Amino acid sequence: MSVNTNNLILRPIWATDDTEKLSLGNQAFVPLKIFLSNDAFNFHRSEIAKTYVLVDPQAKQRPRIWGYITLMCSEIEINLHQLTGENSRLLQYKVFPAIKIARLAVDKVLQRQGYGKGLLDFSIGLILQKIMPHVGCRFIVVDSKKDSVSFYQQCGFELLDTSSNIHSDQPLMFFDLRRNTQ
Ligand SMILES: CC(C)(COP(=O)(O)OP(=O)(O)OC[C@H]1O[C@@H](n2cnc3c(N)ncnc32)[C@H](O)[C@@H]1OP(=O)(O)O)[C@@H](O)C(=O)NCCC(=O)NCCS
Repeated sequence: MSVNTNNLILRPIWATDDTEKLSLGNQAFVPLKIFLSNDAFNFHRSEIAKTYVLVDPQAKQRPRIWGYITLMCSEIEINLHQLTGENSRLLQYKVFPAIKIARLAVDKVLQRQGYGKGLLDFSIGLILQKIMPHVGCRFIVVDSKKDSVSFYQQCGFELLDTSSNIHSDQPLMFFDLRRNTQ
C-alpha cells in the first residue's frame, strides 16, 4: 500500500475512518490495532480518551489511518527531588497532574520518518494551548514499551528513576511540560 505523505494531516478520529488497515508488523502490537478498531471512536465520543489520527483527507474511500495518538487525564506519583531547582513548597506533595499518552502507533510503512515525534509534538502543542492556560497540568506520562524507551528519550521524556520502574516491563516515562516548554 503506497501513501502520499505530502497529503497527510492530523485530526480527531471520525466514525467513518477505516480503523482496520493499520499495520504494525509485530504480534506484540495487536492490542494497539484492536484498540483502534474496537474502542478508539467510542472512547473519543464518550469523553474517556481522545484519539487523533494521521490520514490522507484526499483518499477517495473511507480514509485509512496511518498513525494515531490517544490522550486522557491522569496523574503521576513522583518525588520532585528527581527534578532540580523545584520550589521547596512543592516537595511535600507526591502526586501531580498529568496527561497520559494512552496509545501511540505509526504504521510500519511510515516508521522512522518523524511521524511518531510529530504525533507527540502535536499533543504537546494541544496541551500547551488548550489545557495549561486553564487547568493545572505539569507532566505528560506514558507506560512505555521497553523497545520504545529510546524513542521517548529522543523526544524529551525521562524514566521515573525508581528501581522498580526502571526494571518494569512497561516503565513509566514523563515529560516535564514546565521545564521543556518555558
Ligand atoms: C514507537 C513509534 C511510535 C515511533 O514512531 P516513529 O515514527 O517510528 O518514530 P520517529 O521517526 O518520529 O522517531 C523519532 C526519534 O526517535 C528515534 N527512534 C524511533 N524509534 C526508535 C527505536 N525503536 N529505538 C531507538 N530510537 C528510535 C528516531 O531515530 C528519531 O530520532 P532522530 O530524530 O534523532 O532521528 C513507532 O515505532 C511505533 O508505532 N511502534 C510500534 C508501536 C509502539 O511501540 N508504540 C509505542 C507504545 S508505548
